[in-house]
Amino acid sequence: MVAGAIEAMSAQLEKLGNPSSLHTQGRAVRKELEQAREQLAKAIGCHASEIIFTGSGTEANNTALKGLFWKNRPLGRNVVVISAIEHHAILDPAHWLHDHDGAEIVSIAVTEKGIVDLDALKSLIDTRGDEIAVISVMHSNNETGVIQPIAQIVQLANLAQIPVHSDSVQSFCKVPLSFSELGLTAMTLSAHKIGGPLGIGILVLKRGIDIPAILHGGGQERDIRSGTLNAPSIVGFAVASSLPIPVEQIAQLREVFATGILKAIPDAYINGGSANEHLPGIVNITFPGTESDTLLLLLDGQGISASTGSACTAGVQRPSHVLLAMGHNDKTARSSLRFSLGATTTRLEIEKVIELMPAVINQARTANLR
Ligand SMILES: Cc1ncc(COP(=O)(O)O)c(C=O)c1O
Repeated sequence: MVAGAIEAMSAQLEKLGNPSSLHTQGRAVRKELEQAREQLAKAIGCHASEIIFTGSGTEANNTALKGLFWKNRPLGRNVVVISAIEHHAILDPAHWLHDHDGAEIVSIAVTEKGIVDLDALKSLIDTRGDEIAVISVMHSNNETGVIQPIAQIVQLANLAQIPVHSDSVQSFCKVPLSFSELGLTAMTLSAHKIGGPLGIGILVLKRGIDIPAILHGGGQERDIRSGTLNAPSIVGFAVASSLPIPVEQIAQLREVFATGILKAIPDAYINGGSANEHLPGIVNITFPGTESDTLLLLLDGQGISASTGSACTAGVQRPSHVLLAMGHNDKTARSSLRFSLGATTTRLEIEKVIELMPAVINQARTANLR
Protein backbone atom coordinates (compact mmCIF):
# COMPACT_ATOMS: atom_id res chain seq x y z
CA MET A 1 0.00 0.00 0.00
CA VAL A 2 1.18 3.54 -0.62
CA ALA A 3 2.39 5.39 2.48
CA GLY A 4 -0.26 8.14 2.52
CA ALA A 5 -3.06 5.59 2.31
CA ILE A 6 -1.60 3.55 5.17
CA GLU A 7 -1.46 6.63 7.39
CA ALA A 8 -5.00 7.72 6.57
CA MET A 9 -6.32 4.22 7.04
CA SER A 10 -4.48 3.70 10.34
CA ALA A 11 -5.86 6.97 11.72
CA GLN A 12 -9.36 5.90 10.71
CA LEU A 13 -8.93 2.46 12.30
CA GLU A 14 -8.50 4.16 15.67
CA LYS A 15 -11.85 5.88 15.40
CA LEU A 16 -14.85 4.30 16.94
CA GLY A 17 -18.19 4.64 15.27
CA ASN A 18 -20.38 2.99 12.70
CA PRO A 19 -20.93 5.48 9.87
CA SER A 20 -24.60 4.53 9.83
CA SER A 21 -25.08 5.39 13.53
CA LEU A 22 -26.70 8.66 14.49
CA HIS A 23 -24.55 9.34 17.57
CA THR A 24 -21.72 11.87 17.47
CA GLN A 25 -18.98 9.32 16.82
CA GLY A 26 -20.95 7.68 14.04
CA ARG A 27 -21.64 11.06 12.44
CA ALA A 28 -17.96 12.01 12.65
CA VAL A 29 -16.94 8.84 10.79
CA ARG A 30 -19.75 9.38 8.28
CA LYS A 31 -18.48 12.88 7.57
CA GLU A 32 -14.98 11.64 6.74
CA LEU A 33 -16.39 8.80 4.70
CA GLU A 34 -18.51 11.18 2.64
CA GLN A 35 -15.49 13.43 2.08
CA ALA A 36 -13.65 10.36 0.76
CA ARG A 37 -16.62 9.58 -1.48
CA GLU A 38 -16.50 13.13 -2.89
CA GLN A 39 -12.77 12.86 -3.49
CA LEU A 40 -13.19 9.54 -5.30
CA ALA A 41 -16.10 10.91 -7.35
CA LYS A 42 -13.85 13.70 -8.62
CA ALA A 43 -11.16 11.20 -9.61
CA ILE A 44 -13.72 8.97 -11.36
CA GLY A 45 -15.64 11.74 -13.10
CA CYS A 46 -18.96 10.82 -11.55
CA HIS A 47 -21.36 12.22 -8.97
CA ALA A 48 -20.74 11.18 -5.36
CA SER A 49 -24.20 9.59 -5.17
CA GLU A 50 -23.22 7.30 -8.05
CA ILE A 51 -20.59 5.52 -5.93
CA ILE A 52 -21.58 2.26 -4.27
CA PHE A 53 -18.84 0.81 -2.08
CA THR A 54 -18.37 -2.96 -2.30
CA GLY A 55 -15.99 -5.50 -0.80
CA SER A 56 -13.99 -5.97 -4.02
CA GLY A 57 -13.90 -5.42 -7.76
CA THR A 58 -15.24 -8.95 -8.10
CA GLU A 59 -18.30 -8.03 -6.05
CA ALA A 60 -18.89 -4.84 -8.05
CA ASN A 61 -18.72 -6.83 -11.32
CA ASN A 62 -21.16 -9.43 -10.00
CA THR A 63 -23.57 -6.79 -8.71
CA ALA A 64 -23.52 -4.85 -11.98
CA LEU A 65 -23.85 -7.79 -14.35
CA LYS A 66 -26.47 -9.71 -12.40
CA GLY A 67 -28.34 -6.57 -11.34
CA LEU A 68 -28.62 -5.13 -14.85
CA PHE A 69 -29.64 -8.52 -16.22
CA TRP A 70 -32.34 -9.01 -13.57
CA LYS A 71 -33.58 -5.46 -14.11
CA ASN A 72 -33.95 -5.83 -17.87
CA ARG A 73 -34.98 -9.45 -18.30
CA PRO A 74 -38.66 -8.71 -17.53
CA LEU A 75 -38.54 -6.36 -20.55
CA GLY A 76 -37.81 -9.33 -22.83
CA ARG A 77 -34.06 -8.83 -22.75
CA ASN A 78 -32.42 -12.18 -22.00
CA VAL A 79 -29.03 -11.73 -23.67
CA VAL A 80 -25.84 -10.83 -21.78
CA VAL A 81 -23.03 -9.57 -24.02
CA ILE A 82 -19.44 -9.74 -22.82
CA SER A 83 -16.09 -9.70 -24.59
CA ALA A 84 -13.97 -12.82 -25.02
CA ILE A 85 -11.16 -11.29 -22.95
CA GLU A 86 -13.00 -10.36 -19.74
CA HIS A 87 -11.53 -11.14 -16.33
CA HIS A 88 -13.00 -14.17 -14.57
CA ALA A 89 -14.88 -11.74 -12.32
CA ILE A 90 -17.13 -11.08 -15.35
CA LEU A 91 -16.82 -14.39 -17.23
CA ASP A 92 -17.87 -16.46 -14.25
CA PRO A 93 -20.96 -14.45 -13.19
CA ALA A 94 -22.00 -14.44 -16.86
CA HIS A 95 -21.73 -18.23 -16.97
CA TRP A 96 -23.56 -18.41 -13.66
CA LEU A 97 -26.43 -16.37 -15.15
CA HIS A 98 -26.54 -18.84 -18.02
CA ASP A 99 -26.48 -21.95 -15.81
CA HIS A 100 -28.84 -20.74 -13.08
CA ASP A 101 -31.01 -18.10 -14.70
CA GLY A 102 -31.35 -19.07 -18.35
CA ALA A 103 -29.45 -16.06 -19.70
CA GLU A 104 -28.05 -16.32 -23.21
CA ILE A 105 -24.40 -15.28 -23.21
CA VAL A 106 -22.87 -13.82 -26.35
CA SER A 107 -19.12 -13.39 -26.29
CA ILE A 108 -17.76 -10.80 -28.71
CA ALA A 109 -14.51 -11.76 -30.40
CA VAL A 110 -11.38 -9.63 -30.32
CA THR A 111 -8.96 -8.84 -33.12
CA GLU A 112 -5.37 -10.08 -33.23
CA LYS A 113 -4.41 -6.83 -31.50
CA GLY A 114 -6.65 -7.78 -28.59
CA ILE A 115 -9.32 -5.16 -29.28
CA VAL A 116 -13.05 -5.91 -29.21
CA ASP A 117 -14.40 -6.41 -32.73
CA LEU A 118 -16.71 -3.40 -33.09
CA ASP A 119 -18.16 -4.65 -36.40
CA ALA A 120 -19.26 -7.89 -34.74
CA LEU A 121 -20.81 -5.93 -31.87
CA LYS A 122 -22.55 -3.55 -34.27
CA SER A 123 -24.12 -6.34 -36.30
CA LEU A 124 -25.27 -8.07 -33.10
CA ILE A 125 -26.89 -4.84 -31.89
CA ASP A 126 -28.43 -4.22 -35.35
CA THR A 127 -30.07 -7.63 -35.40
CA ARG A 128 -30.77 -8.38 -31.73
CA GLY A 129 -30.43 -5.06 -29.91
CA ASP A 130 -33.85 -5.28 -28.26
CA GLU A 131 -32.96 -8.67 -26.71
CA ILE A 132 -29.79 -7.47 -24.97
CA ALA A 133 -30.06 -6.81 -21.22
CA VAL A 134 -26.49 -5.59 -20.65
CA ILE A 135 -23.14 -5.25 -22.40
CA SER A 136 -20.01 -5.60 -20.28
CA VAL A 137 -16.59 -4.83 -21.77
CA MET A 138 -13.50 -4.09 -19.72
CA HIS A 139 -11.78 -0.72 -20.11
CA SER A 140 -8.33 -2.32 -20.38
CA ASN A 141 -7.20 -5.89 -20.29
CA ASN A 142 -5.28 -7.18 -17.28
CA GLU A 143 -3.11 -9.58 -19.30
CA THR A 144 -2.15 -7.49 -22.34
CA GLY A 145 -2.86 -3.94 -21.13
CA VAL A 146 -4.73 -3.22 -24.36
CA ILE A 147 -7.34 -0.45 -24.00
CA GLN A 148 -10.82 -1.07 -25.38
CA PRO A 149 -12.98 1.38 -27.37
CA ILE A 150 -15.56 1.91 -24.62
CA ALA A 151 -16.90 5.27 -25.87
CA GLN A 152 -17.69 3.69 -29.26
CA ILE A 153 -19.29 0.67 -27.60
CA VAL A 154 -21.54 3.00 -25.57
CA GLN A 155 -22.48 4.88 -28.77
CA LEU A 156 -23.53 1.63 -30.45
CA ALA A 157 -25.39 0.43 -27.36
CA ASN A 158 -27.29 3.71 -27.04
CA LEU A 159 -28.96 3.02 -30.40
CA ALA A 160 -30.83 0.15 -28.74
CA GLN A 161 -31.00 1.58 -25.19
CA ILE A 162 -28.66 -1.09 -23.82
CA PRO A 163 -26.84 -0.32 -20.55
CA VAL A 164 -23.05 -0.72 -20.71
CA HIS A 165 -20.89 -1.77 -17.77
CA SER A 166 -17.11 -1.55 -17.90
CA ASP A 167 -14.67 -3.31 -15.59
CA SER A 168 -12.16 -0.48 -15.29
CA VAL A 169 -10.09 -1.95 -12.47
CA GLN A 170 -6.84 -1.83 -14.44
CA SER A 171 -7.30 1.64 -15.92
CA PHE A 172 -8.18 3.79 -12.91
CA CYS A 173 -5.48 6.39 -12.18
CA LYS A 174 -3.26 4.98 -14.96
CA VAL A 175 -4.95 6.27 -18.10
CA PRO A 176 -7.61 8.99 -18.57
CA LEU A 177 -10.92 7.62 -17.34
CA SER A 178 -14.18 9.49 -16.82
CA PHE A 179 -17.45 7.74 -16.04
CA SER A 180 -19.61 10.62 -17.24
CA GLU A 181 -17.61 11.30 -20.42
CA LEU A 182 -17.76 7.65 -21.43
CA GLY A 183 -21.52 7.68 -20.93
CA LEU A 184 -21.49 4.38 -19.05
CA THR A 185 -24.31 3.00 -16.95
CA ALA A 186 -21.96 1.16 -14.61
CA MET A 187 -18.27 0.83 -13.89
CA THR A 188 -16.09 -1.27 -11.57
CA LEU A 189 -13.00 -0.15 -9.66
CA SER A 190 -10.77 -1.77 -7.05
CA ALA A 191 -8.50 -0.04 -4.53
CA HIS A 192 -5.61 -2.49 -4.45
CA LYS A 193 -4.75 -1.83 -8.09
CA ILE A 194 -3.80 1.76 -7.28
CA GLY A 195 -1.89 1.21 -4.06
CA GLY A 196 -4.97 1.29 -1.84
CA PRO A 197 -6.10 -1.41 0.59
CA LEU A 198 -7.20 -4.92 -0.33
CA GLY A 199 -10.88 -5.76 -0.06
CA ILE A 200 -12.55 -2.55 -1.14
CA GLY A 201 -14.14 -1.87 -4.50
CA ILE A 202 -16.56 0.53 -6.12
CA LEU A 203 -19.54 -0.01 -8.32
CA VAL A 204 -20.29 3.28 -10.06
CA LEU A 205 -23.95 3.19 -10.99
CA LYS A 206 -25.61 6.00 -12.90
CA ARG A 207 -28.04 8.16 -10.94
CA GLY A 208 -31.67 7.10 -11.28
CA ILE A 209 -30.78 3.51 -12.18
CA ASP A 210 -32.03 1.01 -9.67
CA ILE A 211 -30.94 -2.63 -9.80
CA PRO A 212 -31.86 -5.64 -7.69
CA ALA A 213 -29.33 -6.29 -4.93
CA ILE A 214 -27.32 -9.42 -4.21
CA LEU A 215 -26.89 -8.58 -0.52
CA HIS A 216 -29.91 -7.64 1.58
CA GLY A 217 -29.82 -6.13 5.05
CA GLY A 218 -29.35 -2.65 6.43
CA GLY A 219 -30.11 -0.88 3.17
CA GLN A 220 -26.79 0.96 2.86
CA GLU A 221 -25.55 2.24 -0.49
CA ARG A 222 -28.91 2.92 -2.18
CA ASP A 223 -30.18 -0.44 -0.86
CA ILE A 224 -27.97 -2.09 -3.49
CA ARG A 225 -25.13 -3.10 -1.17
CA SER A 226 -26.21 -3.63 2.41
CA GLY A 227 -23.53 -4.00 5.05
CA THR A 228 -21.67 -1.68 7.42
CA LEU A 229 -19.39 0.56 5.42
CA ASN A 230 -15.67 -0.14 5.70
CA ALA A 231 -14.68 3.43 6.58
CA PRO A 232 -10.91 2.87 7.03
CA SER A 233 -10.57 1.18 3.63
CA ILE A 234 -12.75 3.79 1.93
CA VAL A 235 -10.59 6.60 3.32
CA GLY A 236 -7.43 4.69 2.26
CA PHE A 237 -8.90 4.22 -1.24
CA ALA A 238 -9.60 7.96 -1.56
CA VAL A 239 -6.08 8.93 -0.49
CA ALA A 240 -4.55 6.40 -2.91
CA SER A 241 -6.62 7.87 -5.74
CA SER A 242 -5.27 11.34 -4.98
CA LEU A 243 -1.59 10.34 -5.06
CA PRO A 244 -0.15 10.57 -8.54
CA ILE A 245 1.21 7.40 -10.14
CA PRO A 246 4.31 8.21 -12.26
CA VAL A 247 2.72 6.87 -15.43
CA GLU A 248 5.14 8.63 -17.80
CA GLN A 249 8.10 7.07 -16.06
CA ILE A 250 6.45 3.63 -16.05
CA ALA A 251 5.55 3.92 -19.75
CA GLN A 252 9.12 4.85 -20.61
CA LEU A 253 10.48 1.88 -18.69
CA ARG A 254 7.97 -0.38 -20.44
CA GLU A 255 9.32 0.86 -23.75
CA VAL A 256 12.93 0.22 -22.69
CA PHE A 257 11.93 -3.24 -21.46
CA ALA A 258 9.96 -4.23 -24.57
CA THR A 259 12.64 -2.99 -26.98
CA GLY A 260 15.41 -4.62 -24.97
CA ILE A 261 13.67 -8.00 -24.74
CA LEU A 262 12.85 -8.08 -28.46
CA LYS A 263 16.48 -7.31 -29.26
CA ALA A 264 17.78 -9.95 -26.84
CA ILE A 265 15.30 -12.63 -27.98
CA PRO A 266 14.69 -11.94 -31.68
CA ASP A 267 11.82 -14.42 -32.15
CA ALA A 268 9.87 -13.15 -29.12
CA TYR A 269 6.83 -10.99 -29.77
CA ILE A 270 4.56 -8.72 -27.80
CA ASN A 271 0.90 -9.59 -27.55
CA GLY A 272 -1.26 -6.61 -28.35
CA GLY A 273 1.92 -4.72 -29.18
CA SER A 274 0.41 -3.18 -32.29
CA ALA A 275 -2.61 -1.75 -30.46
CA ASN A 276 -2.55 2.05 -30.40
CA GLU A 277 -3.42 2.39 -26.76
CA HIS A 278 -2.29 0.31 -23.83
CA LEU A 279 -1.68 0.63 -20.13
CA PRO A 280 1.70 2.04 -19.13
CA GLY A 281 2.78 -0.88 -16.96
CA ILE A 282 1.76 -4.17 -18.57
CA VAL A 283 3.61 -6.07 -21.27
CA ASN A 284 2.78 -9.60 -22.43
CA ILE A 285 5.44 -11.47 -24.39
CA THR A 286 5.49 -14.81 -26.19
CA PHE A 287 8.78 -16.71 -26.13
CA PRO A 288 8.40 -19.47 -28.74
CA GLY A 289 9.66 -22.91 -27.74
CA THR A 290 9.27 -22.35 -24.00
CA GLU A 291 6.72 -23.29 -21.34
CA SER A 292 5.63 -20.28 -19.32
CA ASP A 293 5.55 -22.28 -16.07
CA THR A 294 9.22 -23.14 -16.50
CA LEU A 295 10.05 -19.54 -17.39
CA LEU A 296 8.19 -18.30 -14.37
CA LEU A 297 10.15 -20.56 -12.03
CA LEU A 298 13.50 -19.75 -13.65
CA LEU A 299 12.80 -16.02 -13.35
CA ASP A 300 11.54 -16.44 -9.80
CA GLY A 301 14.85 -18.10 -8.94
CA GLN A 302 16.54 -14.88 -10.05
CA GLY A 303 14.22 -12.75 -7.91
CA ILE A 304 12.04 -11.66 -10.86
CA SER A 305 8.27 -11.99 -10.57
CA ALA A 306 6.20 -12.47 -13.71
CA SER A 307 2.87 -14.16 -14.26
CA THR A 308 1.27 -16.48 -16.76
CA GLY A 309 -2.21 -14.99 -16.69
CA SER A 310 -3.66 -18.46 -16.90
CA ALA A 311 -5.99 -20.00 -14.38
CA CYS A 312 -4.77 -22.89 -12.34
CA THR A 313 -7.54 -25.37 -11.65
CA ALA A 314 -6.79 -28.51 -9.69
CA GLY A 315 -3.10 -28.21 -10.52
CA VAL A 316 -3.72 -28.08 -14.28
CA GLN A 317 -2.33 -24.95 -15.96
CA ARG A 318 -4.67 -23.79 -18.67
CA PRO A 319 -3.65 -21.52 -21.50
CA SER A 320 -4.86 -17.94 -21.15
CA HIS A 321 -8.34 -17.42 -22.62
CA VAL A 322 -7.25 -13.88 -23.53
CA LEU A 323 -4.37 -15.07 -25.71
CA LEU A 324 -6.51 -17.82 -27.25
CA ALA A 325 -9.10 -15.19 -28.17
CA MET A 326 -6.34 -13.19 -29.87
CA GLY A 327 -5.53 -16.10 -32.17
CA HIS A 328 -2.94 -18.05 -30.20
CA ASN A 329 -2.99 -21.82 -30.10
CA ASP A 330 -2.56 -23.72 -26.82
CA LYS A 331 1.16 -24.05 -27.36
CA THR A 332 1.98 -20.41 -28.07
CA ALA A 333 -0.42 -19.22 -25.38
CA ARG A 334 1.49 -21.43 -22.97
CA SER A 335 4.79 -19.81 -24.02
CA SER A 336 3.73 -16.34 -22.91
CA LEU A 337 4.44 -14.27 -19.83
CA ARG A 338 3.02 -11.07 -18.46
CA PHE A 339 5.33 -8.54 -16.85
CA SER A 340 3.96 -5.73 -14.70
CA LEU A 341 5.87 -2.53 -14.07
CA GLY A 342 4.96 -0.12 -11.32
CA ALA A 343 5.98 3.05 -9.54
CA THR A 344 8.84 1.28 -7.75
CA THR A 345 10.29 -0.43 -10.84
CA THR A 346 13.75 0.92 -11.64
CA ARG A 347 15.76 1.10 -14.86
CA LEU A 348 18.42 -1.05 -13.19
CA GLU A 349 15.89 -3.82 -12.59
CA ILE A 350 14.70 -3.62 -16.18
CA GLU A 351 18.27 -3.84 -17.48
CA LYS A 352 18.95 -6.82 -15.23
CA VAL A 353 15.98 -8.74 -16.63
CA ILE A 354 16.99 -7.95 -20.22
CA GLU A 355 20.52 -9.15 -19.51
CA LEU A 356 19.36 -12.38 -17.85
CA MET A 357 16.74 -13.22 -20.41
CA PRO A 358 18.81 -14.98 -23.14
CA ALA A 359 20.19 -17.50 -20.64
CA VAL A 360 16.76 -18.04 -19.07
CA ILE A 361 15.15 -18.60 -22.46
CA ASN A 362 17.89 -21.05 -23.48
CA GLN A 363 17.41 -23.00 -20.29
CA ALA A 364 13.62 -23.03 -20.74
CA ARG A 365 13.95 -24.17 -24.36
CA THR A 366 16.30 -26.99 -23.39
CA ALA A 367 13.92 -28.08 -20.62
CA ASN A 368 11.08 -28.04 -23.14
CA LEU A 369 12.92 -30.39 -25.49
CA ARG A 370 13.39 -33.06 -22.83
C1 LIG B 1 -9.60 -6.58 -14.76
C2 LIG B 1 -9.91 -7.02 -13.37
N1 LIG B 1 -11.18 -7.09 -12.96
C3 LIG B 1 -11.50 -7.46 -11.72
C4 LIG B 1 -10.55 -7.81 -10.80
C5 LIG B 1 -10.97 -8.26 -9.44
O1 LIG B 1 -10.82 -7.24 -8.50
P1 LIG B 1 -10.72 -7.63 -6.93
O2 LIG B 1 -9.38 -8.28 -6.75
O3 LIG B 1 -10.85 -6.34 -6.20
O4 LIG B 1 -11.84 -8.57 -6.65
C6 LIG B 1 -9.20 -7.76 -11.17
C7 LIG B 1 -8.16 -8.14 -10.20
O5 LIG B 1 -7.08 -8.58 -10.52
C8 LIG B 1 -8.86 -7.36 -12.49
O6 LIG B 1 -7.59 -7.31 -12.90
